[in-house]
Amino acid sequence: MEAIIIDGKKVADEFRARLAERVEKLAQRGVIPGLTAVLVGDDPASASYVRSKKKAAAEIGINSSVVELPAGTPQSELDSIIDGLNADDRVHGYIVQLPLPKQLNVEKTIQRILPVKDVDCFHPENVGLMTLGRPRFLPATPGGIIELLRAYNIQTSGAEVVILGRSDIVGRPLSIMLAQKAVMGNATVTVCHTRTRDWVRHTRNADILISAVGRANTVTAEMVKPGATVIDVGMNRIDDPSAKKGYRLVGDVDFAGVSQVAGAITPVPGGVGLMTVAMLLANTVTAAELRGQ
Ligand SMILES: NC(=O)c1ccc[n+]([C@@H]2O[C@H](COP(=O)([O-])OP(=O)(O)OC[C@H]3O[C@@H](n4cnc5c(N)ncnc54)[C@H](OP(=O)(O)O)[C@@H]3O)[C@@H](O)[C@H]2O)c1
Repeated sequence: MEAIIIDGKKVADEFRARLAERVEKLAQRGVIPGLTAVLVGDDPASASYVRSKKKAAAEIGINSSVVELPAGTPQSELDSIIDGLNADDRVHGYIVQLPLPKQLNVEKTIQRILPVKDVDCFHPENVGLMTLGRPRFLPATPGGIIELLRAYNIQTSGAEVVILGRSDIVGRPLSIMLAQKAVMGNATVTVCHTRTRDWVRHTRNADILISAVGRANTVTAEMVKPGATVIDVGMNRIDDPSAKKGYRLVGDVDFAGVSQVAGAITPVPGGVGLMTVAMLLANTVTAAELRGQ
């Protein structure tokens, strides 16, 4: 049987409609949420992510702007831009788009962001609050995945969840959130990485299998338990001379094969990515609401 396709666009549209109502309530109090993205260098993928975040923000009435800096920007200059954003009342939240050029220190940069404006939820204070089950913001991609599961009534409580990848932005926070004693938590979570001995032994047990590795065709049909939910976080560019841009975007999952075995599956594009953007907007609205309290 073919898997149900989890429609990220539909879920993101509904989620953003609910957010637009919160933006409207803020507008009645004279508050327009402000989101800024800092983009250092000219990485085409980063520039494209920032453009889509800006467009999505504008669509629900969030004021958004981009600070574009040259690839050679020194740390001192980035620091003073961050200090300016921390002090600017029109900016409720901002992100520094990663990855950063080599001369810039990611940890120092993130530490400098005022935690109440850290809408990517990367600052240690926000990661700590989330880990303790008292989140101020939710990390965007994990939060987006949980919204997709919720929208399709996929039970996490008691489920065996296997996450491939343990990065700071996806695998690790998601493993914490899904294992928490909470609605959309209570799962038994296994995290696999480069030192895991036998992935397939784990993946075949998974009721929910989430891949955040960054390599096409990492998950194939024989790795998946029949009827499992498969969430594909990967965004990999592969050469395709027939495509207008010369490449196309694929996930980590062999979609054609896995969709014959899985019960539900996210496509790439059209799955997790759209929810990541929606969650960033949600954090920005939350930041504006918290300021007003
Ligand atoms: N859709 C979205 O909104 C969204 C958001 C964020 C990221 N992404 C995409 O998701 C993917 C992962 O991103 P990320 O930032 O989490 O990646 P990352 O920081 O590169 O982490 C990749 C993880 O996968 C593990 N891994 C890589 N190759 C492996 C292999 N051959 N065998 C076993 N484990 C392996 C690594 O293990 P070690 O820890 O042992 O090195 C690491 O934990 C990328 O394609 C990225 O573009 C998508």
